[in-house]
Amino acid sequence: MYYTEQELDEIITEAKRIVSADGSNQEKLKAVCEFLKEKVKYYDWVGFYIADEEKRLLTLGPFVGEPTEHTRISFGQGICGQAAEIKKPFVIQDVRKETNYLSCSVKVMSEIVIPIFKGDKIAGELDIDSHTVSPFSEKDTNLLEKICEIVAPLL
Ligand code: SME
Repeated sequence: MYYTEQELDEIITEAKRIVSADGSNQEKLKAVCEFLKEKVKYYDWVGFYIADEEKRLLTLGPFVGEPTEHTRISFGQGICGQAAEIKKPFVIQDVRKETNYLSCSVKVMSEIVIPIFKGDKIAGELDIDSHTVSPFSEKDTNLLEKICEIVAPLL
């Protein structure tokens, strides 16, 4: 996505406002999903997975978009599970070229997953699916990493 420094500041300010507003952590995480999905046209599914490092398991948390059957994902499995293992943002510009991928819908063409940390432990992930091929740039990764730092206390 393209944004100016001023637009970036506005997005960050809004994310911080959501996190410090009234409501449960679940409600706030869902509000962040709604905000991101509305803000970026090609973000078609936005959701959080909660990580259990001991069990090496990701469990689906708040999300917006079509329901998914992938409510529990083991570390190493699919894009989300691989991102949990490498502990780094994972960008797939064309899921049709990816063999270790868990499909939610034939409409999904690309995916970006950003790990969320508490200290050096992975607490969860922000997962975004797009119906567009190759939509993501470094700007998406940079913005979403900042969002993940802001929401980390909610996990
Ligand atoms: N495609 C993901 C599964 C989760 S959904 O995108 C919501 C994956 O391969 O891990």
